[in-house]
Amino acid sequence: VEAALADGPLRGRHVLVTSGPTHEPIDPVRYIANRSSGAQGTALARALATLGARVTFVTGPASVPPPEGVTVVRVETAREMLAAVEAALPADAAVFAAAVADWRVASASTHKMKKEAGAVALEFAENPDILATVARRTEGRPRLVVGFAAETNDVVAHATAKRARKGCDWIVANDVSPGTGIMGGTENAVTLITSGGAEDWPRMGKDMVARKLAERIAAALA
Ligand code: CTP
Ligand code: CA
Repeated sequence: VEAALADGPLRGRHVLVTSGPTHEPIDPVRYIANRSSGAQGTALARALATLGARVTFVTGPASVPPPEGVTVVRVETAREMLAAVEAALPADAAVFAAAVADWRVASASTHKMKKEAGAVALEFAENPDILATVARRTEGRPRLVVGFAAETNDVVAHATAKRARKGCDWIVANDVSPGTGIMGGTENAVTLITSGGAEDWPRMGKDMVARKLAERIAAALA
């Protein structure tokens, strides 16, 4: 366990991090989820705290425990995550590492659905885009807004378009094709996309990606 640097470069800064999957209910006992473990967001929150930041960590139901030394806000759905993020602002920087469900079940059943009722077809509604909502704020926008982009093909092209579409400052892009073992694994190979272009980082542990990214965030806020 690393001690937080009381006089670290992020001392006095508030950084918001979203992490983990979201769960979208179908009925009281069933939900729609995704394969995010929350490992990269958790490592990032830990690295930011180690550099002295005050970190608000808004997390969906992750499979790894949250880091020590951060304020943990647990949420389940995308809409709850958006509300928690807005309640946590203002922040100097915000990093959106969560794998937010793009859709929710339009009207989740309040009772357990019974199979005797026969085959069901679920109707979906689009969830709010939390990153875009924060990045597009005209008042109280964090000075640095960072998104992630998990792609399976044309990674840099998709991520560059995503950065423009959402209005964030940086996008951390990665290839999550099944063969890479990155989704749910301990390593990550990312490309950092900024206004200056795309920068490929070598494959390394998610904790090292987190440390490098935390240092870059500290430099940007300095
Ligand atoms: N994100 C978010 N809220 C959403 C969807 C995504 O905050 N409802 C954030 C993620 O945390 C990530 C970034 O947006 O930082 C990109 O997420 P991604 O799923 O790659 O982008 P989408 O716009 O949802 O595009 P698609 O899934 O179609 O590739
Ligand atoms: Ca998505």
